[in-house]
Amino acid sequence: MHPPQTLTLFSPAKINLFLAVTGRRPDGYHDLLSVAAPLDFGDELTARVEDPKAQAASQFTLECDDPAVPVDGDNLVLQAAAAFATETGWRGAAAFRLAKRIPTGAGLGGGSSNAVAALRALNQLGGARLGADTLAALAARIGSDCPLFLPGGPVVMRGRGEQVEPLPAAAAARLHGRRVLLFKPASVGVATPWAYGRLAATGAYLPAAEAEHRLATWLDGRAGVEELLFNSFEAVVFRKFLALPALLERLQREFALAPRLSGSGSACFAFLPADAPVAAITAAIREAWGTVAFVREARLV
Ligand code: C5P
Repeated sequence: MHPPQTLTLFSPAKINLFLAVTGRRPDGYHDLLSVAAPLDFGDELTARVEDPKAQAASQFTLECDDPAVPVDGDNLVLQAAAAFATETGWRGAAAFRLAKRIPTGAGLGGGSSNAVAALRALNQLGGARLGADTLAALAARIGSDCPLFLPGGPVVMRGRGEQVEPLPAAAAARLHGRRVLLFKPASVGVATPWAYGRLAATGAYLPAAEAEHRLATWLDGRAGVEELLFNSFEAVVFRKFLALPALLERLQREFALAPRLSGSGSACFAFLPADAPVAAITAAIREAWGTVAFVREARLV
């Protein structure tokens, strides 16, 4: 049987329920301990195998329905495709089309997720050449936030983010299907290297032993997920973008939510109880950040 010629894959967003940056490493990266969970909200990536002779000059091309998204070598989809071809020696050509829904500069992992979708698509279209370990190593080379998307469920991340293990089944079951509200100011995006740089400058790390203890307390069921919620980046990102903590405090006060920053931001999220007044919460977000603010309900998978 021939492999398919066109493949469309869902490329989920993620949030970090727990993100402790524990220190700076000699290689310039940071060590972290994180719990990241993919959502049922995300982008869609279509890959179509082309005749290499008919395809224009480049082996891989990318189109995107959002003109603000770069479709050149800066895009992780094309970087992932190039890395796949180098690794496997695949000589085929492919055209990618990206339906972009995940805001960029948000800490929702959109670009990293797209890169993993591209690797998966090429692996299937090219005849499933790479095994899980090779795929994971390739994903880690493309970006520290890529490997978290491979298991397809909530994970614990260690190292610079490349050491990923699925959450134990009991802990994953406690998260599965939980409703969250995602929201991001339209005019604020955070570049991850800047956020790490500020952390390095301020030394606002959480000691690794403290981070592991907090995670273990939640994993063994002694603490609810609200007690797990933590993000090292809030200390630096909230100092620069004051509109974030101002709104988060209001949502806490008026709606008893426990909102947090995701990744290095600027997107935030809050778990929604069954009776949450979503319309009133959304109105409060839009009042603070304007009608162009991104607001979206999603579920943890
Ligand atoms: O791995 P990735 O290329 O996505 O990382 C982008 C930048 O973010 C790195 O160059 C580094 O400055 C910072 N980073 C870090 N520690 C991590 C992940 C990323 O310092 N664990």
